[in-house]
Amino acid sequence: MLSCLTLLFLIFVTLAYWLLVTTEGTYLGTRAVVRLYDWTARRYNAIKKFGFVDEARFVGLPLARMMQDTPGAHILDVATGTGRALLAVAAAGELDATLVGVDHSQGMLREAQKDLMDGERGQGERIQLIQGDAHDLMFADATFDAVSCLEALEFMRDPREVIREMARVLKPGGVLLVSNRVGLEAWFLPGRHCGRGRMEALLAREGLAEINSHRWQVDYDLIWALKPYDH
Ligand SMILES: C[S@@+](CC[C@H](N)C(=O)[O-])C[C@H]1O[C@@H](n2cnc3c(N)ncnc32)[C@H](O)[C@@H]1O
Repeated sequence: MLSCLTLLFLIFVTLAYWLLVTTEGTYLGTRAVVRLYDWTARRYNAIKKFGFVDEARFVGLPLARMMQDTPGAHILDVATGTGRALLAVAAAGELDATLVGVDHSQGMLREAQKDLMDGERGQGERIQLIQGDAHDLMFADATFDAVSCLEALEFMRDPREVIREMARVLKPGGVLLVSNRVGLEAWFLPGRHCGRGRMEALLAREGLAEINSHRWQVDYDLIWALKPYDH
């Protein structure tokens, strides 16, 4: 039989795992999330590099195609982390665009900087990496032709506020791309608008249109939407 101490220890370990690993610190506040990413940035980048072909196919190419008739397009990636989405767009071919990545974690931005600016993948797009909070984007209304946010909304204090901010900085007619956490682990993130159908409903409530979702990874769907001209 388990002793009381062993049981308490197991509960503690399970809770710590949920708080620090499964939910990546999100219920401990933004500072905890950012600290965790600062510590793990290099490892995160090394693991995620294996998904580059997938990102190029499902994120980089479609975004670049949508922007090819918009010379001088401005593209923003919110919670860009190590810059995966921006790299995928940059690798999709010559694009006359300015790519901007915002993230709260300096550690993640340092990794992004290495690959995007010091590496060979950037093809001359103008790239800017900025430290900041997704809940309070530092850009004027209607600045960007496309805004993306991948694998991050569920770790935000208030995903709805972040969506509102992304819609605000998007130009009318602009494209929004977000990932939606689905599958079993989504149930371990209560209150973060995960699960199929919920994110789509949230985007519609925030006035976005032509919402289109499809499966992407085991844990994520991708959702495309447009900001209507009368938003
Ligand atoms: C799972 S990573 C995803 C990174 C990147 N989008 C990708 O697909 O690889 C989550 C990112 O969200 C960032 N993040 C979390 N809360 C944030 C906030 N409030 N504002 C800006 N970035 C935030 C973290 O620093 C981290 O880089």
